[in-house]
Amino acid sequence: VFEACIFDLDGVIVDTAVYHFKAWKRLANELGFNFTEAQNEKLKGISRVKSLELILAWGGMEKSAEEQQILATRKNEWYVDMIHHMTPEEILPGTKELLDNLRAAGIKTALGSASKNATVILEKVGILPLFDALVDGNTVSASKPDPEVFLKGAEALGISPAKCIVFEDAIAGVQAAKAAGMKVVGIGEEDVLGEADLVVSSLEQIDLQTLTNLYSK
Ligand code: G6P
Ligand code: MG
Repeated sequence: VFEACIFDLDGVIVDTAVYHFKAWKRLANELGFNFTEAQNEKLKGISRVKSLELILAWGGMEKSAEEQQILATRKNEWYVDMIHHMTPEEILPGTKELLDNLRAAGIKTALGSASKNATVILEKVGILPLFDALVDGNTVSASKPDPEVFLKGAEALGISPAKCIVFEDAIAGVQAAKAAGMKVVGIGEEDVLGEADLVVSSLEQIDLQTLTNLYSK
């Protein structure tokens, strides 16, 4: 029924949103305006460049493309400093168990993330070897909800999209998975991620049977 699972990173495997928040807030404050957690929520699944555009708009500020590049780099340096201190304890509950079970069952796994920092995060939390393929912000040009990231994941694994299940916490990501012709499990709240085939609050609630059942609907 299914032969591969493709995982988003931020908000599914690790909770890096808190680090993104700290770094963006520091940047906004330096520019002289505030940045709230509610605004940070809206940046889930959104690329670094697009996130900065939104933040500048919220702060009522205009910057040239060149200045934006400098600001995005500065934010990323602070973010990278923080993720370098991440440890395996920061893996979200159920992730390691699910990845182990998938591997034991012969199911392929890929990462499908907008982040350009995905590899270092997986290394820091110690699960890099559990992925058969990595597709991230360095290899993808169109951001979610475009299906490119997930289609490239399926291609890298050599599995047809119809046999792939995506795990996503962002609406844009759920839409990207659907557009790729894949099944999608939403990690979060039903009223936000209702377009997904199944919504759970964490990967702890997922086992192989739950995933097989997605295909009998
Ligand atoms: C993920 C996160 C976004 C982040 C994006 C780019 O999609 O949910 O909040 O902006 O990755 O991350 P990066 O590490 O490349 O700045
Ligand atoms: Mg995410």
